[in-house]
Formats: sequence, structure tokens, C-alpha cells
Amino acid sequence: PTKLGILTSGGDCPGLNAVIRAVVSHATLTYDWQVFGIPYATQGLMERQVIPLHMHSFDLRGIDPLLSMGGTILGTINKGNTLACIDEMIASYQALELDALIGIGGDGSIAILSQLALHGNWQFIAIPKTIDNDVALTERAIGFDTAVNTITNALNWLTFTAASHDRVMVVEVMGREAGHLALHSGIAGGADVILIPEISYSIKEVCRHLAELRDRWQRRFAIIVVAEGIHPTHDANSRSNQKLSCSKGQYIADCIAECSAYPVDTRVSVLGHIQRGGIPSALDRLTAAAFGKTAVDLIAKGQSHQMVAWQNGQVVAVPIEQVRELSPLAVAPHSDLVQTARALGIYVGQ
Ligand code: F6P
Repeated sequence: PTKLGILTSGGDCPGLNAVIRAVVSHATLTYDWQVFGIPYATQGLMERQVIPLHMHSFDLRGIDPLLSMGGTILGTINKGNTLACIDEMIASYQALELDALIGIGGDGSIAILSQLALHGNWQFIAIPKTIDNDVALTERAIGFDTAVNTITNALNWLTFTAASHDRVMVVEVMGREAGHLALHSGIAGGADVILIPEISYSIKEVCRHLAELRDRWQRRFAIIVVAEGIHPTHDANSRSNQKLSCSKGQYIADCIAECSAYPVDTRVSVLGHIQRGGIPSALDRLTAAAFGKTAVDLIAKGQSHQMVAWQNGQVVAVPIEQVRELSPLAVAPHSDLVQTARALGIYVGQ
């Protein structure tokens, strides 16, 4: 192929620009292809827009900013990325005369783009990205490591203020229906309690844990990490069957206040979209480089409907069909990381 399209789809995250940079560099230097960015994913495709991407075209006084820039220079859409206008999108793709497409997205975007490519009969390779890390068959997705670092830093900072005021700091983190972000950052950031959607928990046990910290270890503050996808618990007195109208962090703080045998001064921090911002970590940039390079090589080999993935220290290609069947990937309740958290005295439920 000589004309390669690339787009970013779904929620943004740090490392997307590093992938774009890797794809443009390798496709240009090794294969002498032309690369075209499609802005705003399927929306840009519908509008038949493309941006020619060249090596060094984003340089500022000779400095290439792409490696370290968060977000995506191509723009992206999170909602409305559907197959509703499939015929128009296929017509647009043909009008743009692209030979192949690389799509950087989460499991939902990858599934949609792959269906589109199947119907339009064009070559398509996917690169997984999501701070949630819930794409199956890859140990890493672009953006996850940076988000874990961002949350870990936030937990460190919150620990100082929590300790100064003897408070229980409840920190709600993203992750959709999966607890990967909460589990990884909670362990790395020294949390005392980590609540995730995959493991049921008891508020009485949370309160017992806080009391033990206080009575046995003279710890009068605590850090509780709550994944945004947790479900209400059945032992939370009057709140147990109440429909959640507040944040999950606030829900847990209220449950603790209600169940605790002694007065607890709680504060809630919902970290929100700061978790999607920031400068990509070294690991995310490295993964971006390896994924971008491999995606281009797969196109050169005539492969299609594959997702590049990280498995056992190697970059491999996996069929998108299999990724679809197994995604979104949940935390395994008996995983090593869950056992590790427990071994370190962190309450993670059950
Ligand atoms: O999937 C990434 C993610 O950041 C989730 O963790 C979060 O639930 C969601 O996107 C937020 O989406 P939006 O940017 O549309 O608010």
C-alpha cells in the first residue's frame, strides 16, 4: 500500500501521539508510504477529511513534541462511534483512496472499526489504548501506565493531608466496569482499602479494617481507593438497596460514616479526567513505539483484522474476533495482584 490512513477513536489518553509518531516514522522511513490522519475517527471519515502526516511536520524549532504530548492531535470521539452510517463511511473510505487503515482504540472502537473494514473489504490493523486496561489478549494498552502513575501520585499527595488531619480519604478512580486501574494504583500508592467491581465487599469489614489500623497500628488516617464501577454492598444498613445518586466515592464515605463504631472524618476525591491527561510515561511511549512499528509491518505483510498486543514481553498479533469475544477484560478475583494486595494487608473485599 502507498496510502495509509490512521485514526484515534474512543476516549483520549496519554501516548496516542507517540503511536502516531511511530507509525509515520516507520511507514515513511522503511516503506516510503504516505500517511494520512483521519480526524475525529468515524466522524472525520464520514466528512472525508484527511490530514497528510509527514515526519517532523509537528516540530517546533526542530523539537518533535509528539512523543511527550498527551491527548491526540487527530482528535477523537467517545460517543456516536457507531455503524449507523456504514454505507456512507465505506463510500468515504473509497473516495479517499486509502489502501489500509490503522485504528487506535479501546475494545468498543476496535470492534466497530473492524466491522467497518470487513464490510468495506479493506486492510485494518488495531492498536489497543485505554486507561482502563480492559482490552483482552494484551497485557498492556496505551495510556494505562501513565494513568496508574497519575493516580499513584495523587494517592501520595492525599496521604499527607489525610495524615495531617486524621482523615479517611476516599478516592474514586476511573476504569468503567473493570478494577485494573484501582488495583494497580492502589497497591502502588499505599492504599489501605481497594474496592473493585469484580470482588464483593462488606462495609462492616471495611470499618473493621479501619478500626484495626487505628487500634493495632495507631494509624488514625486511611486511604480508600474506590473504582467507579463498584456495585452497592448488601451490608450497608439503610443504604444497601438504595439507588446510587451520588458518586461511588461518596457512597462508600456515607456507608462508612453510617456503620463505623467510632466517628470517622471522611473526605472524598473524585479524580476524574485528570487521569486521562498528563505526559505519557516512558513505558507508554515504549509500548507506543513497539505497537506502531508492528502495526505498520503487519500492513506491509498483507495482514488484516489483527490487533497488536503485548504478551510475555513480546509484541504479537491477535485476531480481532478473539479480542471481541473476551473483552472487556475483568480483574481475575484470584489473580496474583489481588493476592499480593491481601498479603500486604490491604482489604480488597471477600
Ligand atoms: O474508558 C476510558 C474512560 O476514561 C473510563 O475510565 C471512564 O468511565 C470514561 O472513559 C469517561 O468517559 P467520558 O470522557 O466520556 O466522560
